Amino acid sequence: MRIYRAKTYKDMSRKAANIISAQIIMKPNAVLGLATGSSPLGIYRQLIDWYEKGDLDFSEIRTVNLDEYKGLAPDHEQSYAYFMRKNLFDQVNINLSNTNIPNGLEENEAVECARYNRIIASFGGIDLQLLGIGANGHIGFNEPGEAFERETHCVKLADTTIQANARFFDTIDQVPKYAYSTGIKNIMQAKSILLIASGKAKAEAVNRMIRGPITPACPASILQLHNNVSIVADEEALSIYDAGCR
Ligand code: F6R
Repeated sequence: MRIYRAKTYKDMSRKAANIISAQIIMKPNAVLGLATGSSPLGIYRQLIDWYEKGDLDFSEIRTVNLDEYKGLAPDHEQSYAYFMRKNLFDQVNINLSNTNIPNGLEENEAVECARYNRIIASFGGIDLQLLGIGANGHIGFNEPGEAFERETHCVKLADTTIQANARFFDTIDQVPKYAYSTGIKNIMQAKSILLIASGKAKAEAVNRMIRGPITPACPASILQLHNNVSIVADEEALSIYDAGCR
C-alpha cells in the first residue's frame, strides 16, 4: 500500500483527482470504478474543473459504481444514480450509456446481482477503483461480517451505516435498510485501487485497514493483499496510524 499524505480535505481531493486524471489521460477509454458519499465530492469538483479547462475528455470513459440503495429510483434525490449525475456525469462529456449503477428498483436480487456482475466482467476488469471507507471499515457496502462477500450482492446495511447516512434524509426511518453492492472480489480484481479518507472519524478504520489483521470484521483490511493500492488521506484520518508509527 502506498500512502500519500494530504494536509486537508482539499489537498486530499486534488492529489486523488490527479491520480484519476492521469488514468484518463493514459487510457481514454479506461473503466473507472466510482464511489459516492462525502469523500469523493472534492475529487469530482476538481475533475469537472479540469474538464471545463479542456484538460480532460470523458467521451470514451466507462464507469461502474460501487453501490446503490435498494428501493430508490434513479431520480430519487438520495439515490446514488442521482448523486452521480448531479456531481459528475451531467457536468462532463461522459456518454451516459457508458455509466453503470446497480438498479435499486430491481426487486429480484439474484437477477440484479447477476446483471451487474456480467457488466463488470464484460469490461474485462476495472482499471482504477475509487473507494471511500466507512468508519466501521466498510468498502462499497461490504459491511463488517464473518466472511468476505465475493461479487455483487444485496446487503443489509449495518445500524452504524444507517446512522451515518441519516444526515442525508429527513428522518432515520427514510434511510433504506438494504443496498446492492459490488463484492470484495469485484474490488480486488481492479487493476489499481485509490482509497481516500478524510477526518478523525475515519482514523480508526484507516489504522485497522493498514495495520490490522486481514479480517472480514474490517473489510478494508483485505486491501493489504492487493498489489496496487494508493491511499490518499489527510492528517486527521492518518492520526491513529501515525501515532502507532512513533
Ligand atoms: C459509497 C460507498 C461507501 C462510502 C463510505 C464513506 O459509494 O461505497 O463505502 O465510500 O461509506 O462515505 P463518506 O465518504 O460519505 O464518508
